Amino acid sequence: MCFTCHDAVGTGSTFTTAGELVGIPANDATTDQWYSHPVTSSTGHTSDALNEFGGVLNRHSTCTDCHDAHNATAGQPSESASGWTASGAIRGASSVVVINQAGSAPVYALIQGPTSIDATGALTGGSPAAYEYQLCFKCHSGFTVLPQHNSGAIASHPSWWELDKGVEFDPLNAKSFHPIEAQGTNQTAAMAASLSGSSPYKLWNFTTTDTIRCTNCHAGPSTPVLGTTPDALLPVHASQQRGILIAPYRDRVLMSATEPYNAANFELCYLCHAEAPFVDRSGNARADTNYRFHGVHITGISGMGSGGTDIDTAGDGQGNAICAECHFRLHSTALAFQAGDRANTGLVNFAPDVQPFNGVLKWTQTGAASGSCTLTCHGVQHDGWTY
Ligand code: HEC
Ligand code: HEC
Ligand code: HEC
Ligand code: HEC
Ligand code: HEC
Ligand code: HEC
Repeated sequence: MCFTCHDAVGTGSTFTTAGELVGIPANDATTDQWYSHPVTSSTGHTSDALNEFGGVLNRHSTCTDCHDAHNATAGQPSESASGWTASGAIRGASSVVVINQAGSAPVYALIQGPTSIDATGALTGGSPAAYEYQLCFKCHSGFTVLPQHNSGAIASHPSWWELDKGVEFDPLNAKSFHPIEAQGTNQTAAMAASLSGSSPYKLWNFTTTDTIRCTNCHAGPSTPVLGTTPDALLPVHASQQRGILIAPYRDRVLMSATEPYNAANFELCYLCHAEAPFVDRSGNARADTNYRFHGVHITGISGMGSGGTDIDTAGDGQGNAICAECHFRLHSTALAFQAGDRANTGLVNFAPDVQPFNGVLKWTQTGAASGSCTLTCHGVQHDGWTY
C-alpha cells in the first residue's frame, strides 16, 4: 500500500522508498548478513497500537512498525546533550524509553504511539518518541527478546552476534561508547583532533561533546536526501553494505599477507575520524591520536603471522591489522569480548583472533597517550609492551 505512492519512480511522493530496496544484496540470517530491514515480510505483524515486541522474540519490521503515516511530518531531527531527537518521518511510531541505572541493567517502558490527531494537529492518546534511538531500542534492546547466539555456526562467530543496544549505549555503565545517549567519555585533545581532522571520506565534523545518531552509521548511502549535515534524512531501510551501514567497513575478513592498506576498507570510520594517524608508520607521538602505533599496525605489519583471515578464529592474522581486531564491537565496551574487560576505556576490545600471552590478554591504559599490551597477535608475542 505504501509503495503505491512511495514507489521507485516517485508516483505519489518525492520519497522513492521502494527504489531504495532495488539492487540490494539478499539478507542471510544464518550468517547474520543484513542489508535491509525486512520491510516486505509481514510475518508476525499485527498493529503498532499493540505492544508487539515487549519481552518476546518477534522479529519483523514492516513500514508501520517504524512509521505512523498519519502523524509523519517533514520535521528535521536536532541534536541535544541526551541524544538526537526523533525526526518527523518517524513521529508517532511506538518506541521505548530507557531508564539507565548505575550498577545494574537498564529498564524500559513502552511509549505508545498516538491513536488520533485533534483539529489543531496535536497528537492524542499517546506521545511521540523524543529521541531517534528510542525507536531502535523497541527491537534491538533488552526491551524485546533478541535472537540467540548460543547454537550452530553463530555460536563460534562472535562477530555475527546481535547484542543488546540498551546495555551497549548505557552511559552510566559503559566506560567507553560511541555517544548516542550522552557525550562520550574520551575528552582528550587527541580525540578532539581525530574528529576535526581530514580524510578522503570526511562528511561530518563532530566534537567530543556531541551526540551522534544511530543513522549516522546505519542508513542507505545512495538516497537522494543524503546530505552533508548530520540532520539530513538518513533512512535506515537498506544499504549495499552488510549491517545496513552507510559506508563500507571491513570487520570480518582480515587482510591477506600481501594486501596493502586501502582507506576504502575503513570508509565508515573516515566519515568522522581523521586518516593521518593510520598512515604514519613512524611510531612517533602525534597530537591527533593517543596511540602512536596506529599507523604501524594498519599499514606496516603485512606478512606477519601465518594464520588464516577469519576474525573469529583464534590465531588468525597474517597481514596489516584492521580496526576491528583492537576495536571489536564498535558500539561500546560494555559487552567486551574478553571477560574482565568491561571497564575498558578507549573503545579497546580485542577480537577473537587475538590470543593471550602466558594466559594473559590485556590492554592497560597507564596515562594520557600511554598504555601496555599483553597478548599474542599475528604470531607476535607482546609481553607487556608499552607505548
Ligand atoms: C497517496 C500517496 C501516499 C501513500 C499511499 C503513502 N504516502 Fe507517505 N507520503 C506521501 C506524500 C505526498 C508525502 C510528503 C512528501 C512528499 O512531498 O513527497 C509522504 C511522506 C511520507 C513520509 C516522510 C515524512 C517526511 O517528510 O519526512 C513518511 C515516513 C511516509 N510518507 C510514510 C508512509 C507510509 C509508512 C505509508 C504506508 C502506510 C505511506 N507513507 C503511504 C504520499 C503517500
Ligand atoms: C520494529 C522493529 C525494528 C525497529 C524499530 C528497528 N529495527 Fe533494526 N532490525 C529489525 C529486524 C527484524 C532486523 C533483521 C535482523 C533481526 O532479526 O535482528 C533488523 C536489522 C537491523 C540491522 C542489521 C542487523 C545485523 O545483524 O546486521 C541494523 C544495523 C538495524 N536493524 C538498525 C536499526 C536502527 C538504527 C534502528 C532505529 C533507527 C532500527 N534498526 C529499528 C527490527 C527493527
Ligand atoms: C559509529 C558507527 C555506529 C553507530 C553510531 C551505531 N552503530 Fe550499529 N553497528 C556499527 C557497525 C560497524 C556494526 C557491525 C556491522 C557488521 O559488520 O555487520 C554495527 C552493528 C549493529 C547491529 C548488528 C549487530 C549487533 O550488535 O546487534 C545492530 C542491530 C546495530 N548496529 C544497531 C545500532 C543501533 C540501534 C544504534 C544506535 C542506538 C547503532 N547501531 C549505532 C556501527 C555503528
Ligand atoms: C526499522 C525502521 C523502519 C522501517 C521498517 C521503515 N522505515 Fe522508513 N524510515 C525510517 C527512518 C529511521 C527514516 C529516516 C528518518 C530521518 O532520517 O529523520 C525513514 C525515512 C522514511 C521516509 C522519508 C525519507 C526517505 O528517503 O525515504 C519515507 C517516505 C519512509 N521512510 C517510508 C517507509 C516505507 C514506505 C516503509 C516500508 C516499506 C518504511 N519506511 C520502513 C525507519 C524505518
Ligand atoms: C558519525 C560519526 C562517527 C563515525 C562514523 C565513527 N565514529 Fe568513532 N567516534 C565518534 C565520536 C563523536 C567519538 C567521540 C566519543 C568520545 O569523545 O568519547 C568517537 C570515538 C571513537 C573512539 C574512541 C572512544 C573512546 O572512548 O576513547 C574509537 C576507538 C572510535 N571512535 C572508533 C571508530 C571506528 C573504528 C569507526 C569506524 C568503524 C568509527 N569510530 C566511526 C564519531 C564517529
Ligand atoms: C593494534 C590495535 C589497534 C588497531 C588495529 C586500531 N586501534 Fe584505534 N586505538 C587503539 C588503542 C590502544 C587506543 C587507545 C589509546 C589510548 O587512549 O591510550 C585507540 C584509540 C583510538 C581512537 C581514539 C582517539 C585516539 O586516536 O586516541 C580512535 C578514534 C581509533 N582508535 C580509531 C581507530 C580506527 C579508525 C582504526 C582502523 C583504521 C583503529 N583505531 C585501529 C588500538 C588500535
